[in-house]
Amino acid sequence: MEFSRSHSPSLLALFLICLSILSNLFTSAEADLIGDVCSGSKNPQFCINSLRSDPRSGSADLKVLGQIAIDLSTNSTKSTKALVDSLKQKASDARLKAIYDSCLDNYGDSIDDLADATTKLGSGDYQGVALTASAALDGPDTCDDNFTDAKLTEPPNLAEASQNVQTLIEVVLVIANRLQGNR
Ligand SMILES: *[C@@H]1O[C@H](CO)[C@@H](O)[C@H](O)[C@H]1NC(C)=O
Ligand SMILES: *[C@@H]1O[C@H](CO)[C@@H](O)[C@H](O)[C@H]1NC(C)=O
Repeated sequence: MEFSRSHSPSLLALFLICLSILSNLFTSAEADLIGDVCSGSKNPQFCINSLRSDPRSGSADLKVLGQIAIDLSTNSTKSTKALVDSLKQKASDARLKAIYDSCLDNYGDSIDDLADATTKLGSGDYQGVALTASAALDGPDTCDDNFTDAKLTEPPNLAEASQNVQTLIEVVLVIANRLQGNR
């Protein structure tokens, strides 16, 4: 009793030191996985900030990060589709309205593709994740092209939202390729 009472403070200190070393190791391992994945992104800082914004990313392995990236892509695609809808309500030009209608269809298809990506990820079909993510990229891409082809200026807020959607879906692709064992 004498012995343990006199030694317990230093044992406790040792335990706390070990705990903090361990937790630093874990934190940097997670930070490395996200940093590593995002180094394959066109916009690494946006990728890091987006993945970190999800509470699950703290303890995520590559597969969980893939699901987070799919969820972030889905949210971003849905909010961009809502933006297209609101721009369409305000548009008076018939050509512009037709483009917004195309964009609504295309963003809708991307949302479906991302739902398929979730199913593929769940069943461990990582090639399927890559294929559905590639298909999902067509939505924002086609919408951008519709403006270019018509020689009309895409509203800057839509162009930016489209860029963010594409950056997030590309993160899904990077992760799907890694899960397949291709770096
Ligand atoms: C996506 O949006 C839903 C509803 O707004 C929200 O509950 C969820 O946390 C979001 N997911 C991510 C990954 O941001
Ligand atoms: C948008 O682009 C797609 C693919 O090229 C095309 O099928 C569609 O007709 C275009 N929509 C408009 C309104 O130009």
